[in-house]
Amino acid sequence: MNTLEQLASLQQAALAEIAAASDATQVDELRVKHLGRRSQLRLIMGQIGAMPATERPALGKAAGQTQQALQDALEARAGALASPAHEPTFDVTLPGRRPAMGRLHPLARLIDELVDIFRGMGFELADGPEVEDEYHNFDALNTPADHPARDLHDTFYLTDGLLLRTHTSTVQIRVMEQTPPPVRVVSLGRVYRKEAVDATHHYAFHQIEGLYVDRGVSFADLKGTIEMMGRQLLGDRTRVRFRPHFFPFTEPSVEYDFSCSLCDGGVPGCRVCKGTGWIEIAGAGMVDPAVFTAVGYDPEVYTGFAFGMGLERIAMIRHGVDDIRLFLDGDLRFIRQL
Ligand code: PHE
Repeated sequence: MNTLEQLASLQQAALAEIAAASDATQVDELRVKHLGRRSQLRLIMGQIGAMPATERPALGKAAGQTQQALQDALEARAGALASPAHEPTFDVTLPGRRPAMGRLHPLARLIDELVDIFRGMGFELADGPEVEDEYHNFDALNTPADHPARDLHDTFYLTDGLLLRTHTSTVQIRVMEQTPPPVRVVSLGRVYRKEAVDATHHYAFHQIEGLYVDRGVSFADLKGTIEMMGRQLLGDRTRVRFRPHFFPFTEPSVEYDFSCSLCDGGVPGCRVCKGTGWIEIAGAGMVDPAVFTAVGYDPEVYTGFAFGMGLERIAMIRHGVDDIRLFLDGDLRFIRQL
């Protein structure tokens, strides 16, 4: 390789290295390597003086051009690395964009609150499937095949004896099947009924179920527990009223009402209680001995209470919402207001 060729290949290699430099430090190192006192270029330049006089001008010119090319390249690369093109460009004078803040759905908040209330009373959380079998939804709950609750009008039947659970009472059975007494659980979740949808009915809604079984559990325990829940949900002044009722799986059975949190019975035509002073809330009772027998608990030894309550109804009262569909159709314009 003659000197001109040496210069050309040196220049080519150095330019490639400079183009690949990724920060200012590397550019500086390359400057020392290719233009510094001990660089190959300086070495060649030092040798030119000893070359034949006829070749010296051409060689000197070529070496000078290489030096200039490398200097230009180093400068250009340093400039490019420092330029703001390497940072995101944005207009700092524009107003900021507010991040969309998520929040819990009002039903999810109610569920969290109920879990807290019942944890505070020593209840554990239990869960069960929404796709159930007839046994857990009906038979084990003392609801035989000819009972009207099993009517096609009320229940979404699937194939193979399966259905969408019509209440969370299924979880009572699932818990007792798996756990020897005592048990003290609550379960919260979705249930389904084949109902025409209107402002107060929906084919899907949520319930909380409570179950407490031990030796010597009495109706007084049930009343105290429901009263405690009512006060914590709707305020300290809330009173509870129990009315006789019937459920196949409790005996005796009651429906219970909370005193109206809006008017406390004082306002005729109140939009929450319609002036009656009471809001009908849910069902409850002492676990029927037939249910204990179905799960293998001895009804001579154990007693217990159970209650079930719709959550949408509570949320509607608390937030003054008059249409149950709003909780379930996911319209953010509604949910953001609660
Ligand atoms: N499962 C009943 C319902 O959905 C409510 C209930 C639960 C009643 C527990 C008594 C005991 O209507």
